Amino acid sequence: MKKFEKFLATIHFPPNPFRNFDNSLPTSVSLRDHRRSGRFGNEGKALPKGNARRGLELFRTRLIDANAITCVTCHTLPTGQGTPMRRNGVLFDPIPAGPNGETHQALIGQDASEQRGFKVPHLRNLYDKVGMETTQKNSRAGFGFFHDGSIDSLARFVSTEVFDVESDREVADLVAFMLAFSGSDFEQRLLEPPGTDSLDVHAAVGRQATVSGPGQKASLIGAMVSVAKTSAVELSVKTVENGAERGWLYDPAGDAFASDRSGEAPLSLSALLARAAPGAELTFTVVARGTGESIAFDRTGADLRALRAVRALDPEPLGIRNPRNRKPRIEDSNVPPQPPQE
Ligand code: HEC
Repeated sequence: MKKFEKFLATIHFPPNPFRNFDNSLPTSVSLRDHRRSGRFGNEGKALPKGNARRGLELFRTRLIDANAITCVTCHTLPTGQGTPMRRNGVLFDPIPAGPNGETHQALIGQDASEQRGFKVPHLRNLYDKVGMETTQKNSRAGFGFFHDGSIDSLARFVSTEVFDVESDREVADLVAFMLAFSGSDFEQRLLEPPGTDSLDVHAAVGRQATVSGPGQKASLIGAMVSVAKTSAVELSVKTVENGAERGWLYDPAGDAFASDRSGEAPLSLSALLARAAPGAELTFTVVARGTGESIAFDRTGADLRALRAVRALDPEPLGIRNPRNRKPRIEDSNVPPQPPQE
């Protein structure tokens, strides 16, 4: 069971499709398929576009439930789960871990629908549950919300009386925020109950661009480099050169692409792009933080440990990448011999 728990703790939520490329919250989300609940009239008509940033602000500041609390009082950031702390005046004290190292998350004593203790659920995959829509006759998808799926749509959920929304515009903003929740890049605010760390993946992860010459897909590649510069993600480049698979990994410290061959100098973006040609296409892929070396350099297991061991000779204090650590590479044993360079 312990092993299984350890394995589960490695699983991350996939990139959120509603976030912007830099993982920020979108300000204009089309909600054509999300219907008005009828609280403000026009039941079943499409909601206006939603602004997820305004939705986050409502989530944090709008007093609800007879002016007692806000959404974030229960759904702490970044995951939406209940706080793992106990309130002590204006401070929060950690709750000691259980005998098997379990953490505790807040429960709600009297849930509106069941009158029993309920765990405050995380909100990172709500976009995956949408589709049930009882204002429409042809709705055949979706889970519904709550433990029993008793509320069909997010719009109806946030339109219920306890939530003091004032218009369908506010409903739309909250719905847009719920869709884009994802679990990261919320700045911490004082006095909000602390939350638990989230395992989610930056929105740009998985984006690819393949080019067969310089100047192609320049704005997408520029955006990929900018987001990799922040170290929130890594950027791998794959190509085939003289029949051999090659890999490059963007190094934000040197603003250059490190090669998978020992002794080969890093290349600037333009020098790398100059190598692209039909038959020698370059494929840029945004990959999750911490996975770049194994993907770009195609090394796993003992090979990667050996690479790390070499690099560990030159420590990287505070997690800041030292560009010199990119230089010592173990030699490739499984790459065919290269023809001499001109
Ligand atoms: C008093 C604590 C509390 C507050 C305040 C609160 N929630 Fe919840 N929320 C819960 C609990 C507990 C559940 C689970 C209830 C259930 O499953 O029956 C829940 C469920 C949800 C769900 C459904 C999750 C799912 O996957 O089915 C959404 C969405 C949600 N809340 C959004 C909000 C929003 C938006 C606000 C503010 C407008 C808010 N909540 C305020 C405690 C709270």
